[in-house]
Amino acid sequence: MNRTEFFVALWNQYIQVTPQADSIHALFNERGEDVINDHVAFRTFDIKGFDLDRATELLATIGYEAFDSYTFPDKHLRAKAYRVPDDSNAPKIFFSELIRSELGEEAQAIINKVTRGLEGELTLSDLTGRYPFHKPTFDEYQSLANASEYAGWLSTMGYQANHFTVNVNALQTLESVEEVIELLLEHQYQLNEVGGRIKGTPADLLVQASTIADQMTFEFSDGAVSDIPSCFYEFAHRFNESNGQLFQGFVPNNANAIFESTDRR
Ligand code: NI
Repeated sequence: MNRTEFFVALWNQYIQVTPQADSIHALFNERGEDVINDHVAFRTFDIKGFDLDRATELLATIGYEAFDSYTFPDKHLRAKAYRVPDDSNAPKIFFSELIRSELGEEAQAIINKVTRGLEGELTLSDLTGRYPFHKPTFDEYQSLANASEYAGWLSTMGYQANHFTVNVNALQTLESVEEVIELLLEHQYQLNEVGGRIKGTPADLLVQASTIADQMTFEFSDGAVSDIPSCFYEFAHRFNESNGQLFQGFVPNNANAIFESTDRR
């Protein structure tokens, strides 16, 4: 799978569970916009063969190199940012992992149960949509999500793009995240309000917003059926660093709030 095929497969899987992304994309297209993807994000557990180290190896096979790393202490996460050094048009990748040892015993036991028998290593094709876990019961899911919304999400959604991101700099008819938000609100899309609709300022070099994740029906291992959060769409406007280069990294404070786009409602 080359880089182009990877992103086509990712998008096709993503819009299956995130119909709002497809319709927002169409809304931009109707305005004559050619939507450019700033980045996609993935989530995983810190399990050997499925962790950030494995992600780094996998992403290298399609030209990506890690260029920054981040920690999110209150969410028990660490993350790395990846880009293609010789192709500034390639979407960046933000890959995070849950640090299991920072969770309580009960949550760790549920993760152990959900991931038991996980064999081999994560593959590129897994990232385009695979659920390799054992489904939790509804009670296990609630308990796990109470300890970590991220873990609850991952235990039900498995591997796929958690979000795509519209590159606001590349839009012709909208000049800012504020204008994008105005358009989305006119069309009744729900936005992540954590810390305010707009995350970051031009001084942070990255201004972002995101929708609230779509919902999908999930059947738990005990037969319980409930709606769960799937994935969301993000919007990113980047600003120049003091050296005149467009900032390519991520801002932990923004990302910390954006993670909550998949919290249960
Ligand atoms: Ni993002």
